[in-house]
Amino acid sequence: MTTQQADSTAQSADLPAAITAVPYHIGIIMDGNGRWAQARGMPRLAGHQAGVDNIRRILEHCVRRGVKVLTIYAFSTENWRRPPDEVSGLMRLLGLTIQRQLNELNRNGVRILHSGRMEGINKHLQKQIMHALEVTKNNDRIILNVAFNYGGRAEILDAVRHIIQDGIPPEALTEETLSSYMYIGELPDPDLIIRTGGEWRLSNFLIWQAAYAEYYTTPTFWPDFDEAELDKALIEYSHRERRFGRVLNP
Ligand code: IPE
Ligand code: IPE
Ligand code: MG
Repeated sequence: MTTQQADSTAQSADLPAAITAVPYHIGIIMDGNGRWAQARGMPRLAGHQAGVDNIRRILEHCVRRGVKVLTIYAFSTENWRRPPDEVSGLMRLLGLTIQRQLNELNRNGVRILHSGRMEGINKHLQKQIMHALEVTKNNDRIILNVAFNYGGRAEILDAVRHIIQDGIPPEALTEETLSSYMYIGELPDPDLIIRTGGEWRLSNFLIWQAAYAEYYTTPTFWPDFDEAELDKALIEYSHRERRFGRVLNP
């Protein structure tokens, strides 16, 4: 969807008073795992493990706050440039996480989606991913969209290729059509993009969908980003005036 996404207005009784608007869809660039580990004299992969462990607590807190879709950036198309050991470690970690956590995620009503290219991911891991999508497809408490082997430019390119393959004539192509050809075409655009780890860039994350998202960055490394940190982002979001190009009080 390229049109504005209405906030799910704060309904939950236990919502802190300072959170007056809850994003329907949050995207998180989970950055800083490596630096978190290095600061502790640990290998980078230990940081990635700590990062994976943190997903559960943030996902649960998103449910508590009424967020409906959480997209997490777990592996970018550019992350293949990392040392082979780190790349294979990250691949292994996704497989292990599916193995260990799928049942619990399913019991908790989490629907898992995958955004990204399957090509490049080894066949066994591809099967595990497909299995996770299949098992959780009827769940509706929250969507956890895992951006893995994901790049925003690759996504737009893949969409354009499919549009051409489908023979859609140029004059029939609209922003809505292009949106519907993204990896998860039916997902509403993100309302809030959070980046941990202190950088101020998108690093190729949801570049089409985030055209009107609000941005929030924090120096906190991803493994340390806890419930209170998410609430801080939600409070900040509550103060943003989303204008979508209009003048609100003419
Ligand atoms: C983000 O943490 C996780 C992935 C990219 C897989 P990093 O590994 O980028 O951590 P830093 O930025 O080096 O600290
Ligand atoms: C973005 O983090 C990708 C993920 C969090 C998966 P990076 O650490 O790869 O981004 P850059 O290289 O600092 O832009
Ligand atoms: Mg990084």
